[in-house]
Amino acid sequence: MMTDPESAPAPARAPTPTQGASSESPTGAKIIDGKVVSLKIRDQLAEEIKILKNSGVTPGLAAVLVGEDPASNTYVRAKAKACAAIGVYSDVIRLAADISQVELERKVRELNIRDDIDGILVQSPLPAGLNEFAINKLVDPAKDVDGFHPYNVGMLSIGEATFVPCTPVGIIKLLEHYSISTSGKEAVVVGRSNIVGKPIAALLASKCETGNATVTICHSRTRNLSEVCRKADILIAAIGSPGLIGRDYIKPGAVIIDVGINRVDDPSRKSGYRLIGDVKFDEACELASYITPVPGGVGPMTIAMLLSNTVKASRRRL
Ligand code: GUN
Repeated sequence: MMTDPESAPAPARAPTPTQGASSESPTGAKIIDGKVVSLKIRDQLAEEIKILKNSGVTPGLAAVLVGEDPASNTYVRAKAKACAAIGVYSDVIRLAADISQVELERKVRELNIRDDIDGILVQSPLPAGLNEFAINKLVDPAKDVDGFHPYNVGMLSIGEATFVPCTPVGIIKLLEHYSISTSGKEAVVVGRSNIVGKPIAALLASKCETGNATVTICHSRTRNLSEVCRKADILIAAIGSPGLIGRDYIKPGAVIIDVGINRVDDPSRKSGYRLIGDVKFDEACELASYITPVPGGVGPMTIAMLLSNTVKASRRRL
């Protein structure tokens, strides 16, 4: 069912945030600014790193990039740059797409025993033919800053989280920063990936302050997706489908978190592409109370949380 924008009810407003200053979109939704929040977190981490360095500890992150996927390449470069900016040592290990499983496993074992490396990430997706689960399982859980090891996945599911995947925990930090309460709210997560959908659902349902939501997980087989989404007070779009979520998916006053980072052709750009989310931003702004833009919403938080997990991992050296 499409809603006529002219007759759509005025968005119900979430309480004014006490901490997060947000700008307002021309049509009313408040913009959740991931750049601002992530910079604040990065500044705090930089201070903490100075103290760690005074104790002889320089946090170190190894990023393993297999193959030439352009998006993965961009992400890994951004992660290394973010490390350098706050004083984290980083080592980017670039490996050919045709590396064998055995050889890749050997590389991970090497990183597990390196004293200068506190955190290990293996950029996903791996090229076809490599077993990603076997690799994630091999990373030392104490260096698993992505939170992908089955031990850390299990710890999250029983509410004893150690390392939580970066994008989901970044979303929680954004909600906290803008004082958006989740307790008792209907949260709908669109997407069931191990990286975002499942862990954000676990966090929102968990028994803690930025949890206690009633969570529904939707996916490609969900019937009446728009109808289910319209029940959401908090809607997390993490399906990787450009612009899927339009006005008929959105309840007036909903908080919309757009995790999608989709490249679409744009000959007017030097790069030849632009990034869009899973949400039709302009339509969503007419109805939402808060919304994350793409880019500049969830994306910067993923990197900030990776840095945070790396600093956390390095503390065990003290
Ligand atoms: N690919 C997309 N997101 C991520 C992430 O957070 N970590 C890793 N390792 N790969 C990804």
